Amino acid sequence: MMSLEEIRQNVIDCTKCSLAKTRTHSVPGKGNFHSDVIFVGEAPGRNEDLKGEPFVGVAGKKLSLALEEAGITRDEVYITNTVKCRPPNNRVPNNEEKQMCSNYIEKEIEIINPKIICVLGNTAFGSILGGSEITKYRGKVARKGNQLYFITVHPAATIYNQELIQILKQDIKKLFQIIRELKNGKQVIVDIEFTS
Ligand code: URA
Ligand code: SF4
Repeated sequence: MMSLEEIRQNVIDCTKCSLAKTRTHSVPGKGNFHSDVIFVGEAPGRNEDLKGEPFVGVAGKKLSLALEEAGITRDEVYITNTVKCRPPNNRVPNNEEKQMCSNYIEKEIEIINPKIICVLGNTAFGSILGGSEITKYRGKVARKGNQLYFITVHPAATIYNQELIQILKQDIKKLFQIIRELKNGKQVIVDIEFTS
C-alpha cells in the first residue's frame, strides 16, 4: 500500500488535470496521520494555493475556531480537500477535475482509516456521498458501506454569517462527542444510509 508521504509527493507532482496549469502549488492533505477524523473541504483557495497547505485562509480560521471551541487543535486532526489544486477564481471544481483527483482522497481515507469523515459543505457532500442540500443534512451522521460520515456546512459559508458560524461550532462539538462515543464502543445513531 502507498504511504501518505508518497501520496503527498504524487499530489505535489500531479499534472493529471488542467488545474495543474493554473495552480501555484498543489495542496496535499495535512495533519495527524492517526487522526480519528478526516475533514474534507472542496478545493484550495487563494491562500492555500500560495502556501501549499489546506485551510490556511479566512475559511481555515473559522474551522480552527470551531475546533478550538470543541477543545481540539488542528494538529490532532487530518484536513484535506476533494480536489487538490485551486480552480481559477475559486470556481467549483468540475466533474473531470473531481474524477481525476478522486484517487488521492480515496487513498488518504484508506490509509488513515478514520472512525468518521467530516464532510464540509455541498461540493464535498456531492463528491463523496452523492448528496445535495447541505442545510437539510448538516449535523447528521451518514453511513456508506462501513464508513461513517458527519455532515456540516463549509467554513467559508460562515465568514459573513453569524448564524452559520454558531451552527458550525455546534456541529463540530457534536462530531467530537460522537467520536468519544465511538471510542467508548457505544452505538452511534445513523441518520442517513447512502448506498455504495
Ligand atoms: N476552502 C476549501 O474548501 N478548502 C480549503 O483548503 C480552503 C478553503
Ligand atoms: Fe492532479 Fe488533482 Fe491537481 Fe488535478 S487537481 S492536477 S488531479 S492533484
